[in-house]
Amino acid sequence: MDTGMTDKTYKHWQLEQDEENFVWLHLDKADSSTNTLSEAVLMELEDALNYLHRQPPRGLVIRSAKENGFIAGADIGEFTHFESQHAALEAIQRGHRIFNLLESLNCPTIALIHGYCLGGGMEMALACRYRIAEDSPETRLGLPEVRLGIHPGFGGTVRALKAAGPLTALNIMLTGRSFSARAAKKMRLVHYAVPRRHLLNAARSILRKPPKQTPLPWWLKLLNHRLLRPWIAKYMVKTVAKKAARAHYPAPYALIDLWQHYADDREQMLREEAASVASLLVGKTAQNLIRVFGLQETLKGLGRKLDGKPKYVHVIGGGVMGGDIAAWCALQGYQVSIQDREHETLGRVIQRAFDLYKKRLKKPRLISTTLDRLMPDLPGHALARADVVIEAIFEDVEVKRELFRAIEPQMKADALLCTNTSSIPLEALAEALKKPERLVGLHFFNPVAKMPLIEIVRGKSSSEENVQRASAFAKSISRLPLPVTSSPGFLVNRVLMPYLIEAVILAEEGVPLKVIDDEAVEFGMPMGPIELADTVGLDICLKVADILSQNMDISVPEKLRTLVERSQLGKKTGQGFYAFKKGKPVKTAPDKDYIPPADLQERLILRMVNEVIACLRDGVVDNADLADAGIIFGTGFAPFRGGPMHYLQDRGTQQVYKMLEQLQQRYGQRFTPDSGWQQWLEQEADNG
Ligand code: COA
Repeated sequence: MDTGMTDKTYKHWQLEQDEENFVWLHLDKADSSTNTLSEAVLMELEDALNYLHRQPPRGLVIRSAKENGFIAGADIGEFTHFESQHAALEAIQRGHRIFNLLESLNCPTIALIHGYCLGGGMEMALACRYRIAEDSPETRLGLPEVRLGIHPGFGGTVRALKAAGPLTALNIMLTGRSFSARAAKKMRLVHYAVPRRHLLNAARSILRKPPKQTPLPWWLKLLNHRLLRPWIAKYMVKTVAKKAARAHYPAPYALIDLWQHYADDREQMLREEAASVASLLVGKTAQNLIRVFGLQETLKGLGRKLDGKPKYVHVIGGGVMGGDIAAWCALQGYQVSIQDREHETLGRVIQRAFDLYKKRLKKPRLISTTLDRLMPDLPGHALARADVVIEAIFEDVEVKRELFRAIEPQMKADALLCTNTSSIPLEALAEALKKPERLVGLHFFNPVAKMPLIEIVRGKSSSEENVQRASAFAKSISRLPLPVTSSPGFLVNRVLMPYLIEAVILAEEGVPLKVIDDEAVEFGMPMGPIELADTVGLDICLKVADILSQNMDISVPEKLRTLVERSQLGKKTGQGFYAFKKGKPVKTAPDKDYIPPADLQERLILRMVNEVIACLRDGVVDNADLADAGIIFGTGFAPFRGGPMHYLQDRGTQQVYKMLEQLQQRYGQRFTPDSGWQQWLEQEADNG
C-alpha cells in the first residue's frame, strides 16, 4: 500500500511506518543512557508531529528504544539555564504546544511504556489516547515534579485529573510517588498492564480496532464540582502542611490552588499551569532541589566506576545494624549469610527481616523468595564463598582485630572486607590484616532501610580500587556512596554532634524542648535535635560524643550523661529527654508568654556549618558539593536550602562569619570560627 509516507530518522527519534500504515515513533536520545525530554528532543518531536498532521497515519505508537525505560521526564539539566521567568514560560509553552499537537492527531495514539515513565514522559503518555504499560517490576510510572519544587507543566495537571479523577490525580502529583503498571492501571493512569511478550500485539490490536474509552464514573467527576472544590482543597492544604511548610515548599500549594480555581476551564487551567510552573521553576526552592538531584546523581556516579557485581555477601554480627544490613542486602537481590554467636540473635534478625519484607513486598511469594536469600550462618561456613564481607560487631578495637585475624585466611583472595565501625580508625583495624589494602569502611546509618547514604571510609592503607568497589557495592544496594577519610565521626556524625550538643545546652539553659525542636523543624530539618537524640538513643549519642570529644573541642553536657546514667535512653526505653507514648514523644507546649532566645536557630545551625567548614579543611570529603550531599542525605538537612555550604554561600559567607563571631562573644569558644573559613571568605571576596 502506498501511503506516500517514508521512514524518517532524526537525531533522537526514528519514525517508522509499517505496512498497515501505523507509525512507530521510537525515542533513543543520542549520547545519553536515559531518554529525557530535552529541548532538542522536543523540537524534533514537534517536527515529526507536524509531519503526521499533514500525512495522518492509521495510528501512532510512541515507544522508547532504550532498555531502561520510556522517558524519565523533562531534562532536569536544562532547568538551571533559564535566564528569566519569561524564558522558562516560553519553554513550557512550547511543551504545551507539542503535547497539544500529539493530543489532536486525527488517529488513535498509544504510549507503549516499559521501565521509567516519569514527569514529562508521563505527561506525554497522558496526551496519547491509550497507554499500555509493561507489567514488570521495572516499570515505574509517576509525576514526581513536586520533589523538584515544581508541578507537572506540560499539560499534565489537566490530563492527569481527567484520566484519574481529582483525588487520585492530586494524590499522585502531591506525593510525587511512582507506581507499578498494575497500580497505575487501578488508578486509571494507564489502560492496560501487559507482559512484555504481549506489548506489540496489544498495541497493534488497539490500533486495528480502537476500544471505547470508559469515562470516569460520575462520583469521581462530582468531586471536581466548583462547590466541593474549596472544601477538598482546604483538607488537602491541611494534609500537605503537616509534611511541608508553604514558605519552604510552595509547589504543592500552587498545585492545589490551580485545581481549586481553574478546574472548570481546561484552556485557562493549561495557561495557569504554565505560568505557575514558570514562576516556581526560577524560585529558590526549585533551584535548590534541582541542585540536590544533581548531588544525588554525583554520588550515584561515584558508585558507577566499576563493572562486575559481587554475588555473595557475608555479614558478621547480628545486632540491629548488622542484621538490618544483611536484610537490606538480601532485599536488593544478594545471596546473604548472617553470622552471629547466638541462635536467638539470628532469630531476631530473621524476624526483623520478615517485618521489613512484609512492608515492602506485600506478596507472600516475594517475601519468601527474599527470605530464602538470607541465610542464618552460626558457624560462618559461607564466609569462604563471600565476595563482600561486612563486619558489624560491637565497637571494640581488640575484638575486631581478633576477628579479622581469624577470618582473613578463610576469605577468598579477592574478597572485599568492610567494617561498619563508626568510631574506630581504620588504620587501627587494618594492622591485623595481611592485606590491609582490602579493608574499607562501610558506614551505614540507622535505620538502614530508610537512610539513603553510606559513608565509604578510606583508611590510609585502603587501596583506591577497593574504595571504588565498596562505592559500587553501595550503589548496587540502592544507596548513595560518599567517600570520606578515616577520621573521628567521619563527616555526618562529626557535623551532627555539635548541633545535638548545642540543643542539649539550650535545654540545660531552660529553653523548652519543644521550642528547640520546633525551631530546627522551622529551619527545615526533618526532626528536631532533641527528638532525634531520643530516637537514635542517648547512650549512642553519649558514646559518639565521648569519642569525638577526644579530638574535637566539644564538651559533653552533664544532662546527657545524667539521663544515660538513669537508663533514660530515649525512645527505646520510653523515656529520654521526652517521655514516649506509643513510640511518639510527648511534647509540652511552652507558656503562652514564653519568648525563645532570638539567636536560637543560629546557635543550632551555625555550629553545624562551622563543623562542615572544619571537615573540608581537614579533607574529610573532597569538596563542598560532596559535603552538602553528605549532610543532606545523611541528616536530612533542609533539602530546599541546597546543603549547608550552599546555604552559607546563599546567605553570604561574610555575613554568616560575622554572626558566628557574635555568638563566640556571647557564648564562648565553642563558636570560634574554624580556620577553614578563611578560604571561603577569600573565595567570596574574589567572586565579588
Ligand atoms: N533529566 C536529566 N537527566 C536525567 C533525568 C532527567 N529527568 N532522569 C534521569 N536522568 C539521567 C541521570 O542523570 C543519569 O545520567 P548519567 O547516565 O549521565 O549519569 C541517567 O539518567 C540515569 O539515571 P540514574 O539516576 O543514574 O538511574 P537510576 O536507575 O538510579 O534512576 C530515575 C532513574 C529515572 C528513577 C532517576 O534518574 C530519577 O528519579 N530521575 C528524575 C525523574 C524526574 O524527576 N522526572 C521529572 C522531571 S520534571
